[in-house]
Parts: sequence; structure tokens; C-alpha cells
Amino acid sequence: MSPLCPSVSHVQTAAPAVSLPQVALLATGGTIAGVAASPLEQIDYAAGVLGVERMLESLPGIEGVARIVRRQCANLPSENCTPEHWALLAQGCALALQDPETCGAVLTHGTDTLEESAFYLYLTLPPEKPVVLTGAMRPATSLSADGPINIRDAVAVAASPAACGRGALLVMNGRILSARTAIKIATVDVEAFAAPESGGLGRAINGQALFFADCGGPAPLAGAYAALAGRADLPRVDVLYACAGMATDLVRHSAAHAQGLVLAGMGNGSMPSAVRDLLREAAGQGLTVVRASRTGAGPVTPLPGYAPFIPSGMLSPAKARVLLMLSLAATAHLPPAHRQAAAAAAFAQGGRL
Ligand code: SIN
Repeated sequence: MSPLCPSVSHVQTAAPAVSLPQVALLATGGTIAGVAASPLEQIDYAAGVLGVERMLESLPGIEGVARIVRRQCANLPSENCTPEHWALLAQGCALALQDPETCGAVLTHGTDTLEESAFYLYLTLPPEKPVVLTGAMRPATSLSADGPINIRDAVAVAASPAACGRGALLVMNGRILSARTAIKIATVDVEAFAAPESGGLGRAINGQALFFADCGGPAPLAGAYAALAGRADLPRVDVLYACAGMATDLVRHSAAHAQGLVLAGMGNGSMPSAVRDLLREAAGQGLTVVRASRTGAGPVTPLPGYAPFIPSGMLSPAKARVLLMLSLAATAHLPPAHRQAAAAAAFAQGGRL
């Protein structure tokens, strides 16, 4: 385990009222646990410094909302998160949710890779009990820090029966989003996450979780890779960003070293012809290739000229990588053509509108 990712520091239940719902709070670092030199400093700070107890000090009254079982899972800036951390988070959530008293879990997490961890948890955790990720765009020491209110909202959502069955969720700035569709859309704004096409699932208002609609059927692929939860040695999948005149040696390198490749293509997943030809050759030798888009909105659709590459549908390049890693891990025992077919089926589900 990484030194940045200490094992459980402690588990403590602090709360008197037995009638309140019990929520597990798993802290992992990020800006929400960040410290700056002054309350006026919003940009230059160290992320992942404060422990969960210190974070809760800025939330007086939270024990009136839920019984909080807290645990420090890690304390790092999320740009240093790896699949090992994803595995650790999945194990931490599974352990916390085993307690029949616990109705849901909240993870505090850095926002920079939150969408990847959130989608991994969406894909690997059974959706019956809510798992809600949140973070902050301003450090804990900041004037108008957004972390405390985000934790309060996330706890309210995790405690809500209406959140069950939807797969992992993300709560930021009063919005409830699916971990399948939410992406980070802003570098410094507190309104940092959105699901640009499908929109949000609801809002957290004054400590209440309000969903726009009932759950309405199974969340696509939620918990589909539960058998892989906690497995750190996922296959290597690279993401390459397409641009005019891109160097093909990068493509050759990835094709030689990775088992899967996501091309963050131009527009509807297009790429220079030289890249397409190289990737087609690599796909013939067993590389699974996904066409995603660098645009940030809209589906990547199937196109005959790009067979046999798999269109990512609604999944961003970063999310497509997570799904491809899990799909390739789940089908490692199969011949390449079957692995590619299984990945195509997974993207048809996971990337749907
Ligand atoms: C991080 O992702 O750890 C830093 C940025 C943030 O949490 O907003």
C-alpha cells in the first residue's frame, strides 16, 4: 500500500441518537482537506492535509443529521490516485456498508480525479446502499470554503432511501449527479461538476435530498464488476489525445505496451488516417481500442469507417478508460476477439444516453 495511503486510522461512532440514520464517512484527501497560508488564498494550497476529525470540526451539528462512523482511508491530492487507491476505496466502502446499521457511505475525495474513482465505485459496488462522493474547490482554510456544506449535503443524500439503487453518486454544490455521467467541467469554480447531456438526478437543499424522479429501473452497469472490487492489478489502458498532426510514435508506444487504448478523438471520435491505420493494425493483434471524444459533450457513435474500434457513447475518455480496464480484467481469460466483443457490449450499456 502506498505511504500516501495509510491504513485505517480509526473507526469511531460519535452520536447519541439511535433513531438517526448511520452513515459511514470515508476521508481520502483532496482540497476538501486542504490547507492554504491564508483564508484569502483559494488557489495555492496543499491538498490532503487535514484528517477527518479536523474536517468534521467545521461541521457542528452534523451529528444531528446522521450518526457518523468516520474512517481515514487515505490523505492525498487526487492527482496521485491510482487503481490501487480505487481498490482500497472499494474495499473500504464494502466493509463500511456490511454493517447493517449503516445505510450509506460518503467519500471525501479530491475533485481532479473524482470522476474516475466515482465511476470505478459505480461499476464495482452493488447499488443497493448509496455511495456518495464529494469534494471541494476551495481549501478547508478558505473564506467561504465549500467543503463543509458539500459534506452535509452528501450525508443527507447517503441517508436518503431515495438514493438507493442508483449506483454511486456525486454531490457537489447542491447538485446530485450520477457517477456514470458526471464530469469535471471547471478548473476553479465551485460549480465544478455536471452531466452535460443527461443533467443531474436531483438537488440537496437545506439538508434534504430531492430527486427529480424515482429510480426507475436498474442503473446501467452499476455493480457489474463487483467481482473485481478491490483488485489493484488492472490491465494497462492508455488515453491518447488526438490533435492535428499528432505524432504517431506515441500511438506505436501505447500499442506495444498497453492492453487497451482510448483515443480522445476529435469531434465524433475521429483521428488522423495514419493513427487510424496504426490502431487498426494493433487491434488485429489484440489491442482493444475505444473511440472517445475530446469535445466534452455528445455521444461518440458507431461509424463503419472506424470498425473495429468501440465507440465510447456518452463516456468521457477518462471514464472510458476505467470501464475498459475493468472489462479487460474481467475477460482476461478469453481470446482477443471475445474480449473486444465483451468490451463493445459493456460500452453499449455503460455509455448509453
Ligand atoms: C485534488 O484533486 O486533490 C485537488 C483538487 C481538488 O480537490 O479540487
